[in-house]
Amino acid sequence: MGNPPCCSYYKLFVIWGVVGVVLLGLGSCNGEDDGDSSSSSSSSSSSPTPTVAPMEWKEKESLYAAIQGLVGSSWNGSDLYPDPCGWTPIQGVSCDIYDGLWYVSVMNVGPFYDNSLRCIQAANFTSHLFELKHLTSLSFYECFTTPVSISGLRWEAFSETLTALEFRSNPGLVGGLPPSIGSLKQLQSLVLLENRLGGGLPPEIGNLGKLKRVMISGNRFDGPIPGSFGNLLDLLILDLSGNDLSGPIPSSLGGLASLLKLDLSDNRLEGPVPPEIANLNGSLMLLDIGGNNLTGRLPESIQDMASVKEMVMSNNPELKGDLKGINWGNLQELQVLELTNTGLQGDIPDTMSELTALRHLGLGNNSLTGNPPKWLAALPHISALYLNGNNLTGELEFPNQFYTRMGWRFSVVDNPGLCYRSPITSPSVDSPHGIKPCSTSV
Ligand SMILES: *[C@@H]1O[C@H](CO)[C@@H](O)[C@H](O)[C@H]1NC(C)=O
Ligand SMILES: *[C@@H]1O[C@H](CO)[C@@H](O)[C@H](O)[C@H]1NC(C)=O
Ligand SMILES: *[C@@H]1O[C@H](CO)[C@@H](O)[C@H](O)[C@H]1NC(C)=O
Ligand SMILES: *[C@@H]1O[C@H](CO)[C@@H](O)[C@H](O)[C@H]1NC(C)=O
Ligand SMILES: *[C@@H]1O[C@H](CO)[C@@H](O)[C@H](O)[C@H]1NC(C)=O
Ligand SMILES: *[C@@H]1O[C@H](CO)[C@@H](O)[C@H](O)[C@H]1NC(C)=O
Repeated sequence: MGNPPCCSYYKLFVIWGVVGVVLLGLGSCNGEDDGDSSSSSSSSSSSPTPTVAPMEWKEKESLYAAIQGLVGSSWNGSDLYPDPCGWTPIQGVSCDIYDGLWYVSVMNVGPFYDNSLRCIQAANFTSHLFELKHLTSLSFYECFTTPVSISGLRWEAFSETLTALEFRSNPGLVGGLPPSIGSLKQLQSLVLLENRLGGGLPPEIGNLGKLKRVMISGNRFDGPIPGSFGNLLDLLILDLSGNDLSGPIPSSLGGLASLLKLDLSDNRLEGPVPPEIANLNGSLMLLDIGGNNLTGRLPESIQDMASVKEMVMSNNPELKGDLKGINWGNLQELQVLELTNTGLQGDIPDTMSELTALRHLGLGNNSLTGNPPKWLAALPHISALYLNGNNLTGELEFPNQFYTRMGWRFSVVDNPGLCYRSPITSPSVDSPHGIKPCSTSV
């Protein structure tokens, strides 16, 4: 049973700490800490058998009680793990040294490993959790199954310490996200994935200027996206997908200059795509605003988003607009363009042939017209092309090898005015699925 890396690492510091205390003692200074800690660590460095590392009694009792509330009262910490930061480490719990004493710094609860702490059905928070003075990272995975709430808890207690808070796949986690989350000034990572949290997103989250990622997808949050999220200038990932958020996309999100990933998909957002979103052209790689009810046409400003690799706006049937007038050639990184079911009209413009990095083009279920241009099949990396459910017309003039290569990743079905020229020489070659051959008269 090895110690977690942190602990063996910090054991070195215990030893050096003891040396330090000895040197201080020689210099006839009185250490601030009481003799208890130094004496027990002295004995641990000189004795052949490990003894209890210095840890405040209260810290240890708080840890035991916090865990008991989650894993059940039959779990006897003092019996099983008498030295939780030392020679009897608890899976998922790590410690750090502050002022010569051990404190719990990390607590991960849930079935990460075989011998991880696992929650009982009646798992609940106890106030003891909030007595852990130096907790920097707290995470609960598949823990809460019967309804418990995280509001009304003393989050302020962690305001100077907690950098990461994570709740993942907790079907019992209900109720709102309390505004007191906004007191966690050191927070860099807020991950709330696949729980049943609901209510509005507290604007106070916008005060947490150190946040690098906010991932809250798969909950039941409703109401607007707070404009204050635009203050999170260090943010790399903002994922609010799969909730019930409504109202407009705040234009302030255009100020999140460090953002790599913006995912607002599968909510009930409405109104136009704010042109400010196109300011995210320094580092943004993924933009997903699909599955909402956005309106006001496909914005021309997306042509400025030169860094984006994946752009998804599908399933916004009221978006409308057309593909013309956008300088597609500027989007040299774009690999995935997904505009299925966005109410698009007009032709597929030849300027789109400049999208040379494109792998996936989804234009299905729109009202596109005209003849599918030949160059689509010649895009160097194209491996998925959906043109089904439009009003495309004329003869499909792609090479037969293209149909063979693409298989089901190419679709033109439900374009009543479109036909393909049947190859006379090799009738066995794959033909596009679901459209009729052109009548033989040229
Ligand atoms: C835990 O175990 C210790 C030592 O075996 C015992 O004294 C204590 O009463 C136990 N505590 C609980 C809560 O069962
Ligand atoms: C969980 O604990 C909190 C206090 O920490 C209490 O208010 C709440 O009623 C408890 N919930 C359940 C389901 O026991
Ligand atoms: C989408 O928005 C339109 C117009 O703003 C509205 O008429 C329609 O009911 C909305 N649809 C949904 C599913 O919310
Ligand atoms: C980035 O966006 C700004 C404003 O939207 C625009 O002026 C600029 O040309 C864009 N940069 C690139 C490389 O497209
Ligand atoms: C297109 O619309 C049809 C009928 O409404 C639907 O069955 C199909 O799943 C849609 N396809 C896509 C790619 O959205
Ligand atoms: C296709 O065009 C016809 C005639 O212009 C129109 O009636 C029909 O609604 C269009 N279909 C789609 C899917 O846009």
